[in-house]
Amino acid sequence: MALSEQKEEKPEDILRDFRASFFSMNRLASFPWTFLDSELQSNKSSEFISELLKQTCLHPLCGKFPPSVRFRRIFLSELIKREAAGCDPLDELYDALAEVLGVEETLHCHKSYFLPTGDAISLLENVAVISEGTTGLVTWEAALYLAEWVLENPQVFTGRSVLELGSGVGLTGITVCRSCSPVRFVFSDCHAVVLEKLRENVRLNGLGGGKSPSVTVDQLDWTTAPEEQIRQIRPDTVIAADVVYDPEVAGSLADLLLKILKCSAAAEILICSTVRNPETYGGFKLRLEAAGLGHQVLTGPVGAVFPYNRLAPIELIKVFRVQEG
Ligand SMILES: C[S@@+](CC[C@H](N)C(=O)[O-])C[C@H]1O[C@@H](n2cnc3c(N)ncnc32)[C@H](O)[C@@H]1O
Repeated sequence: MALSEQKEEKPEDILRDFRASFFSMNRLASFPWTFLDSELQSNKSSEFISELLKQTCLHPLCGKFPPSVRFRRIFLSELIKREAAGCDPLDELYDALAEVLGVEETLHCHKSYFLPTGDAISLLENVAVISEGTTGLVTWEAALYLAEWVLENPQVFTGRSVLELGSGVGLTGITVCRSCSPVRFVFSDCHAVVLEKLRENVRLNGLGGGKSPSVTVDQLDWTTAPEEQIRQIRPDTVIAADVVYDPEVAGSLADLLLKILKCSAAAEILICSTVRNPETYGGFKLRLEAAGLGHQVLTGPVGAVFPYNRLAPIELIKVFRVQEG
């Protein structure tokens, strides 16, 4: 469902909805096309399309951090199809398509996610969901879900030292840094190319470089992380999104969480997962239990901030140490 379809349909909400979906390269089918069609039918003017272009392909953000070439071509072609059926041709629409047709496709693109303040988090991502042997070069739904939860629960991060496991391209962590005032934030991952892109995204979003919060991007492999590394970070809060998908590393992840709780007894650990395979997810929970860890399912975010597929089954859990005796 498009974000604005949950509210009263005002043109400015629809334009904001188009902008959010365009810059995050959401599925084209989820855009609020019905509003555009009825708008074209009722007043036969290209004015709304012109406004729409200003919020998407002609927006300054598109010049700086453009979505993929292919996505822009498909989006503009869809607009032209609807415009042709509803009003007179709009030159700037054809100019925009001509311009993007002259650009070569690349393996990388930018996606931007708008915070409630109107500021955008812009990330360099790969076009393919799996590339260079990793799933870490795109933003996954669990990261967006957890980022929405973060926005509603800033107190879990304010003034704290936060560690993120399997950060990928960095959406959730950057949301925490931009919106919750942690004192320190440690992004981490195990994959060299992911870490390189993550560092670039951290820089792109104005974090690091001696500013508050203190930010680092660390190599941290769940299967080999030494206790010394955890002791040095000593996190108050630990977050991870979409890290439970490989039954082979579920045990290592559970052991790492136990290691963290041994170093920082009061650490608050939040794991957000898309439950694609209940067996794999159930297996992770059994590994938690075997490591002496309990979990509690938390209520998800109430508000819809980012556009993504809300039909995906996502669960957020808090992990804690079960007291013996
Ligand atoms: C599905 S992606 C999720 C990325 C990001 N959290 C998100 O939700 O958009 C899983 C991430 O976990 C990382 N990862 C996988 N195995 C790991 C391990 N053993 N140690 C550390 N990170 C790992 C991958 O490199 C990848 O970035």
